[in-house]
Parts: sequence; C-alpha cells; structure tokens
Amino acid sequence: MDINIGISEEDRARSAEALSRLLADTYTLYLKTHGYHWNVEGPHFQQLHIQFMDQYTEMWTAVDELAERIRALGHKAPGSYAQFVKLATIKEEDGEPSWQDMVRNLEQGHEQVARTAREVLRIAEDVSDDATGDVVAPRITLHEKTAWMLRATAS
Ligand SMILES: [Fe+2]
Repeated sequence: MDINIGISEEDRARSAEALSRLLADTYTLYLKTHGYHWNVEGPHFQQLHIQFMDQYTEMWTAVDELAERIRALGHKAPGSYAQFVKLATIKEEDGEPSWQDMVRNLEQGHEQVARTAREVLRIAEDVSDDATGDVVAPRITLHEKTAWMLRATAS
C-alpha cells in the first residue's frame, strides 16, 4: 500500500537508514551492558550489577520504539546480529574486561550512541521528519546523562 504522510519516499528512506544505524548501535550497547551485568566482579559488584541492569532495561525498551518508527516510515527494521554488526559503529565485547574497563567501555559507548543519535536528528530535521526527531532527541539526553553517570562512577 502507498504511504502518504507528507514525506517523500526518498526522505523516508534517509530517515529509516539513519534510524537503523541508531538501532544497531543501541542494540549493541544493550547487549554489551547485559553481558557486563552478568560478568562484573569486584568490590562494587552489587552496585554495578544493578546499575547495568537499569541501563540495559532502558535500552531494551528504546530499541523497540526505534524499530517501530522505521516500520512507520515504510521500511523493514534490522533484526539480526549480522545486520547489527554491519550497521553499528560500536564494537561487540569479546574479552573479559575488569570492572573499571567495563565502566569506561560503557561510558564511551553511550557517548558514541549520543553522537549517532545527533546525526540522525540532523537528518530528520533535514527532511522535516518531526516524529523521528521526537523519538531521537530524548535518546541524546539519555545517553549523555548515562555517560556522565558512568564517568562519575569511574572517578
Ligand atoms: Fe539479572
């Protein structure tokens, strides 16, 4: 069925492509955070175990909203590890980091997702896709805030 929401097919594709990159980055950081929740060790175990749970739970909810916005634009949402690896700028965890490195990696991860989200917002503004902007702008706030909290945890 044709989509007529006042955004051209080409512009919807630009928005959806940008959102797919944000979805992939958010999903990759979600998975990294959940893995750290499982594997964290050390004197701050209890605090970090819970802090990481709060963070991955938030991102788990967020990826659904991002994916459904892609669908509303008439595109298919990426939903496999292979697609996420291709789209993401964040690298998967494949080592066994210390709790300090976990905190640092997540801090840098949230900064990266904030940067990706800002790029998506610019594209959404470019094509007058206000609804995508409304979904993405709060993600910038959230990731910048979480990066600050992780910085405060590490120092
Ligand atoms: Fe758990």
